[in-house]
Amino acid sequence: MSAASPLPTLSRGSRGLMLEGVALADVAARFGTPVYVYSRAALIAAFEAYRHALGERPASVCYAVKANANLGVLSVFAALGAGFDIVSGGELARVLAAGGRADRVVFSGTGKSRAEMRQALLAGIRCFNVESAGELERLDETAASLGVTAPIALRVNPDVDPGTHPYISTGLKHNKFGVASTDAAALYRRAAALPHLRIRGIACHIGSQLLDAGPIVEAAGKLLALADLLAAEGIHFEHIDLGGGLGIRYRDEAPPTVAAYLAPLLGLFEGRSEELCFEPGRSLTGNAGLLLTRIEYLKPGEEKHFVIVDAAMNDFIRPALYDGWHGIAPVVARTGPPRRYDVVGPVCESGDFLARDRDLAVEEGDLLALLSAGAYGMSMSSNYNSRPRAAEIIVDGDEVHLVRERETVESLYALERPLPRG
Ligand code: LLP
Repeated sequence: MSAASPLPTLSRGSRGLMLEGVALADVAARFGTPVYVYSRAALIAAFEAYRHALGERPASVCYAVKANANLGVLSVFAALGAGFDIVSGGELARVLAAGGRADRVVFSGTGKSRAEMRQALLAGIRCFNVESAGELERLDETAASLGVTAPIALRVNPDVDPGTHPYISTGLKHNKFGVASTDAAALYRRAAALPHLRIRGIACHIGSQLLDAGPIVEAAGKLLALADLLAAEGIHFEHIDLGGGLGIRYRDEAPPTVAAYLAPLLGLFEGRSEELCFEPGRSLTGNAGLLLTRIEYLKPGEEKHFVIVDAAMNDFIRPALYDGWHGIAPVVARTGPPRRYDVVGPVCESGDFLARDRDLAVEEGDLLALLSAGAYGMSMSSNYNSRPRAAEIIVDGDEVHLVRERETVESLYALERPLPRG
């Protein structure tokens, strides 16, 4: 593709757009549209960038499953030895089904149920990132009932502004996440006194789509100050988990490279013995995937012209929910003069748009690729308007793997029952 593509393994050849060695037109012909297409090589390259930047330092990269929870994607990371950051029992089950190791799993989230705690304790996860005093007590009780000890870190809310969209900033005082740094020391003392907990570390996650390292360096400084304070009391951490959050380029953003993002943190941790953990999601999968969709209609209007495609907000909600901007690339380029369009779907909402005000030379039946859709795409999709969810594909060189079949309409109501008549 042009230099403007943020997807490293996307290119334009004589048969139109290619992801690795696979023509997107062939994927659409074989599997239909809409379809998510991910590049194995791009997933691996993104993971290796972390590993390379961390070098010899004791560190672990726990992929945030929520970004893209497909078993195929998880299996690529599991094969690389990744850890996983989960937020539900469902995500834990997926990790294990994909071949991930329980002892590399960290469990974040504000509302862990007793059942989820039991499931994770029996699986033998690495660490619970505990987000409240109530959760700490419940985890101790649950571990006691199973006769085991729960490994814990407190997720501390460091009250720093990540400078990102308000819906995806999580480390400010008014956010629901984590425990206040002012309460953390007392809670660690409480944890140390509870017989069925074992303190492993400390954690934070300040937000997503971060475009510079400043806020995370500030947060890390606060965590280290707490670590030193508690060490003086005999409470020691084996690891410090700085969460996820590194941003990616969707349009013209200039996020730091993984190496540049990690460099000041590595500097801060120099000479310290704690293992460093990260929980990246978007930066591992976002630019490894796209959503392929076909144009159903061109609908010219008085004020606006619309391209109506077969993907919709139920397939991909980032534009509607966060005003997310995603590149739109025709799979086969046409030479005609472009026209300015909104790219919209068939769902009955004005918020059902994938892109606005794009200059495109397109015809009915053409394929479009919605770029940078590998993170928070399929994982946030729904069946709104009784639309079966898209298929998912991973390409690997010139091989194509179907990693999720397109849903059937019958499966959408398979769990439902009409009331008996009369
Ligand atoms: N760790 C925790 C505890 C998290 O809550 C998150 C994301 C991550 C790690 C991964 O963050 P990442 O590296 O992907 O920034 N749906 C939104 C993003 C929500 C992020 C939620 N938490 C979007 O589409 O932009």
